[in-house]
Amino acid sequence: MTSSTNLRLIRVWDLPTRVFHALLITAVAGLFITGEIGDDLMKFHFWFGYGVLSLLFFRVIWGFWGGHWSRFVNFFPAPTHVLAYINDFIHGNHKPTVGHNPMGALSVFFMLVALLMQVFSGLMSDDEITNAGPWASLVSSDWVSFATNYHTEIGSTALIALLVLHLGSVLYYKYFKHEDLLTPMLKGDKHLPSDTPASRDSPTSRLFAVGVWLGCAYAVFRLVNWA
Ligand code: HEM
Ligand code: HEM
Repeated sequence: MTSSTNLRLIRVWDLPTRVFHALLITAVAGLFITGEIGDDLMKFHFWFGYGVLSLLFFRVIWGFWGGHWSRFVNFFPAPTHVLAYINDFIHGNHKPTVGHNPMGALSVFFMLVALLMQVFSGLMSDDEITNAGPWASLVSSDWVSFATNYHTEIGSTALIALLVLHLGSVLYYKYFKHEDLLTPMLKGDKHLPSDTPASRDSPTSRLFAVGVWLGCAYAVFRLVNWA
């Protein structure tokens, strides 16, 4: 067992990952509000959607070049790990993990995929009155009605379910397992054994992250203006 004297604050979530998370929350909240109100707010709905797409592209790239604990290879939810973790969890033997635990990792992947599908279906959606995504004119009318149905019914409901699960898990860990996941997502650090690898989070890596995001924003601009 590691004595508490061997623990020190280790950077787990680098600033770009934390800023990504904060901006994602803001934009997704904005999307649900503007989507439900509609009307004049739809132009903001589109802008928030493009913003989310640039963030998702960024997060995929950061999953390869980001800080140690933000890399996919360090939290890939292999089925054996997930099942072993669930088994330990049920029996109360699970141990706190440094980055995402295997179940958390699985939900992160589901959320990223659900968000991507929501954005791409939005690009092809058409409310048949005034608002049509920029790709609606590029695909067949069957695709448009399928995408619109997915976007407004299936996708948004699936996202709400995943978000309820996400928030529920964070609260469950805090109040029932006494494991605070939120503070590290806000401040970046966790108390860990001193030999734990830290995520790189230097001024250079942060500047690199800004460059990556700008590249992603440009890619979104090109995709949106494809037509
Ligand atoms: C629209 C709402 C939200 C979305 C789309 C969302 C999405 C995500 C994603 C994608 C991650 C993975 C971060 C990464 O590796 O890049 C994450 C992690 C996390 N989120 Fe959220 N989130 C939302 C709201 C919230 C809120 C409101 C809280 C606070 C109560 C929260 C707390 C956390 C925490 C603590 C983690 C880290 C979990 C861990 O340690 O494994 N999230 N979230
Ligand atoms: C994560 C991203 C997104 C989320 C969570 C989201 C969510 C929503 C919601 C909740 C609605 C209202 C559904 C209803 O009327 O019951 C909606 C409608 C709509 N969204 Fe999105 N949206 C996203 C991205 C986008 C994008 C990128 C576009 C297009 C560029 C878009 C285009 C539309 C259109 C055209 C409608 C109206 C569809 C209709 O009323 O038939 N959305 N969205």
